[in-house]
Amino acid sequence: MLSGRSVLLIVSGGIAAYKSLELIRRLRDRGVSVRCVLTKGGAQFVTPLSVAALSENKVYQDIFSLTDEAEMGHIRLSREADLVVVAPCTADLMARMAAGMADDLAATVLLATDKPVLIAPAMNSMMWTHPATQANLRTLEARGVRSVGPNSGDLACGEVGSGRMAEVPEIIAAVETFFATDLPLKGRRALVTSGPTHEPIDPVRFIANRSSGKQGHAVAAALAALGADVTLVSGPVTLTDPPGVRTVRVESARDMLNACRAALPVDIAVCAAAVADWRVEAAGQKIKKQVGGAPPVLTLAENPDILATLSAAGPQRPTLVVGFAAETESVIAHAQAKLARKGCDWICANDVSPATGTFGGDSNTLHIISASGVEDWPALSKTEAARRLAARIAEAFATAPQRTPAE
Ligand code: C5P
Repeated sequence: MLSGRSVLLIVSGGIAAYKSLELIRRLRDRGVSVRCVLTKGGAQFVTPLSVAALSENKVYQDIFSLTDEAEMGHIRLSREADLVVVAPCTADLMARMAAGMADDLAATVLLATDKPVLIAPAMNSMMWTHPATQANLRTLEARGVRSVGPNSGDLACGEVGSGRMAEVPEIIAAVETFFATDLPLKGRRALVTSGPTHEPIDPVRFIANRSSGKQGHAVAAALAALGADVTLVSGPVTLTDPPGVRTVRVESARDMLNACRAALPVDIAVCAAAVADWRVEAAGQKIKKQVGGAPPVLTLAENPDILATLSAAGPQRPTLVVGFAAETESVIAHAQAKLARKGCDWICANDVSPATGTFGGDSNTLHIISASGVEDWPALSKTEAARRLAARIAEAFATAPQRTPAE
């Protein structure tokens, strides 16, 4: 599928640049011709010689190089490839891209290109979560730039958090998705919520629920596998981020709603998270046990309903909004009432009474409820149920008009 394609790979200055050497190798293995631009910072981490040897091509570094310009001007460099990949993409390069700067060869090429751009951000987690970087990401996405990662985990700086560059197979998968022409959800944007929420009681305690996030994460992966550009907003789970999906980790229901709003506009929203219905008026300090004293009283306030909010988002309402309903009795009747109450298009209802083992388990028996009736699915693994749901969504979109990223 990738054979015969050409990629312009921009390597900017992050420790993750060592993975870019492997990326060049794996792209070459697949018959992709790779030409590389190395920023000044990138050249601090990998040598031009390694990049040239692995790409079997000249490496471009300097916008003012007479030889480079004579041989392959920056305009040609920016237009000759089928796809521009920036890996690693530093916070600084993201900022320069968002601002439309052209202060080095990489930024100039990115400004002059008429080709699709895929970035693999890599940075310290504070830099990644900084509002400036997140705003830059949204600006770039609104212009059609696609991103893969970053992942959460140990960072080279010794901290733990989000900011680790996507692994090479994930970047290859994203490149493959780019070139796949026959994926039914290609060009569609999807938002998936997953996992529980944690509602703090005080700085050390919280209220949570038993959702594992398995079903929501599987839905995100299945939509991405059909070509959708997926943002997964996940509460605290022990699962790894699904490949090829932009994962935003949150704690509370209110954080989840904010992250969902930031992901709009989307064509598809699937709310699979088990959002806490109530939050606690959290104490600023740890609540101390008073010897012989009365236990503290928790005052609860209602959380926003994310599914209902998205369903009523006016011009920003996703074309298709899908909710889940975990019920322990009268599953269909309760789910039908929920469909009407929340204003969504479909409800995937499942029986979560303890005997079914659905919570935290690996299988699920779903009933898909919409205005046109009820579809009963057999017991399926959560992965298979997700694949079916994604296929069903693709079917619904087969005739729907395309929404452009800028809408
Ligand atoms: O009302 P209930 O929690 O049973 O509804 C379940 C559906 O609503 C799920 O799709 C869940 O993700 C969504 N939900 C939500 N925000 C809430 C409560 C539920 O998005 N605060």
